[in-house]
This record gives sequence, C-alpha cells and structure tokens, in this order.
Amino acid sequence: MSGIFGTGYAAVYDALYGGKDYAGESDLIAHLFALHADGPVASVLDLGCGTGGHALPLAGRGLRVTGVDRSPAMLARARAKSAEMTAEMTAGMAGATVAAPEFIEADVRTLRLGRVFDAAIMMFAVLGYQHDDDALLATLASVRRHLPPSGLFLFDVWYGPAVLAQRPGDRVRTISQADERILRTTRSELDIRAQICRVDFHVLRLAGDRVVGEERETHTMRFFFDRELGLALAACGFRLEALRAFQDIGREPDETTWTVIGVARALP
Ligand SMILES: C[S@@+](CC[C@H](N)C(=O)[O-])C[C@H]1O[C@@H](n2cnc3c(N)ncnc32)[C@H](O)[C@@H]1O
Repeated sequence: MSGIFGTGYAAVYDALYGGKDYAGESDLIAHLFALHADGPVASVLDLGCGTGGHALPLAGRGLRVTGVDRSPAMLARARAKSAEMTAEMTAGMAGATVAAPEFIEADVRTLRLGRVFDAAIMMFAVLGYQHDDDALLATLASVRRHLPPSGLFLFDVWYGPAVLAQRPGDRVRTISQADERILRTTRSELDIRAQICRVDFHVLRLAGDRVVGEERETHTMRFFFDRELGLALAACGFRLEALRAFQDIGREPDETTWTVIGVARALP
C-alpha cells in the first residue's frame, strides 16, 4: 500500500475534480491515437486509472480498456461507475452490450499482464508519482512490456520550466457534494534539485457546521524536462515523438505550460 488515494480521499476525488473535462481529454487521446498510431487502436491500457475518468469514456467509444491502479478505494469507485455506465448504455442501445473496462489492482512498476495493448495511457500526472529514478525507469519498462513494437504511449506530466517559473502555490477550495461541503486545503513545498513537489492535502467534509470527515495525504510529485524525458524513455525502449501543451496540442510548451502531454512510440 502506498498510503495515498485512501478511502477518504477516493470518496471525494470525483467531487474535487468534477471540473476536469474527462470527456474532452478522452477525445484528445483518441485524436492523438488517430494522428500517431500506425493502425487502428482497439485496446488501451490505462495505467493509474483512478476512478475511471478516462477508461469509461474511452470504453464508451468502443475501445477495449484495461485500467490498472494500486488503490483499492479508487478502483472500487471506478467499478461502481462502470457498472452504472454500462447498464445505462446497454439500456439505451436496445439490448446491445457495451464492453465494460476491466479493472485490475496492481502496481504499475511491477505489472506483468503477459499481453500487449495497441496503446497505453498514464493520465493526470501518474508518471510524476513515480518520483525517484528507479520507480520511473521500472514504470517505463513496465509500459514497454505491455506494448508491441510501434505501440503508442500517451502521458501527461508537470512541466519543469513552468513549475520553476510559476511555483506551486497554496490553495483552498470549497466544493459541494450531495448535502455536504468539502473544504480542501493544499500546501506545496518545492525541492528544486530533486525535481519534486510535496503537496499536502487536508480535506474536511462538513455537513452544516459539523465536521463529518477529515483526511490528510501528502503526494510527492516529480516534474520533468524535455531532455530527461527523452532519455528515460529511450532507456526503456521508446522514442519521444511529441511533447505538447496540454490540452492545446498545437502549441509547443513553455514556461506558461504547467502540464504537457507526451506521445512516445515503442521501439522494436
Ligand atoms: C491523480 S490520480 C489520476 C487518476 C486518473 N488517471 C485520472 O485521470 O483521474 C493518480 C492515480 O495513480 C495511481 N498510482 C500512482 N502510482 C501508482 C503505481 N505505482 N501503481 C498503480 N497506481 C498508481 C493512484 O493510486 C491514483 O489513482
């Protein structure tokens, strides 16, 4: 167990990121597949799939999706949402069945499914959670094991030039979920030489004035620069084909681009 994305945090995850445009991001992923893949992409491995934010819309597009995550709590939510979505879609399609994503509890660093996929994705900074070099290389090697030669790997990460120029700030957000208010305080501490940011999340759930839940988690995130990404990917059997502003992929990243999306191709 990693000690993060526990039950309490997973319970509020979808509310906290309710403003994130997963459908739009999934369209962008499909667009990048169409631009870069050698042939049609029918099967996708979603590494660090969380609550299924991308796995579900991609499955809704007819792709066979396997989601992998080490957090049982995040996976439980993904499975519940998946059951709901497939029931709704099947009902709307006059008895036709929709292939629900498969969800597997595992660590992406050591994953060995013994099969390959047309493409792999790691979305919402999952690669950044593999913050030391051993973890990073083990993860990229694992992605490579699950792709055929020429298979595509899409990932988004925090972009070093922007992190250094803008610096992560402290924030407070309030979100409503059912009859509760969620108050999330974020404090960040940057370690420039280690290329990591420690983000302390403090989440309070309030029903009226009463505190009904409290969670604290510290997430350690690595941020990346172009050449190290190219080198790490090359060391694990990939060529970095594109690194673009996320989600404006027509734009080269710069100091204003907090998140970049990378497209890498598995080498023979
Ligand atoms: C910020 S969430 C992103 C979830 C999802 N991709 C999304 O876009 O909402 C990061 C996820 O990566 C998972 N994760 C991080 N490191 C992992 C690892 N080594 N193995 C498996 N899952 C991991 C966490 O459990 C968490 O669900």
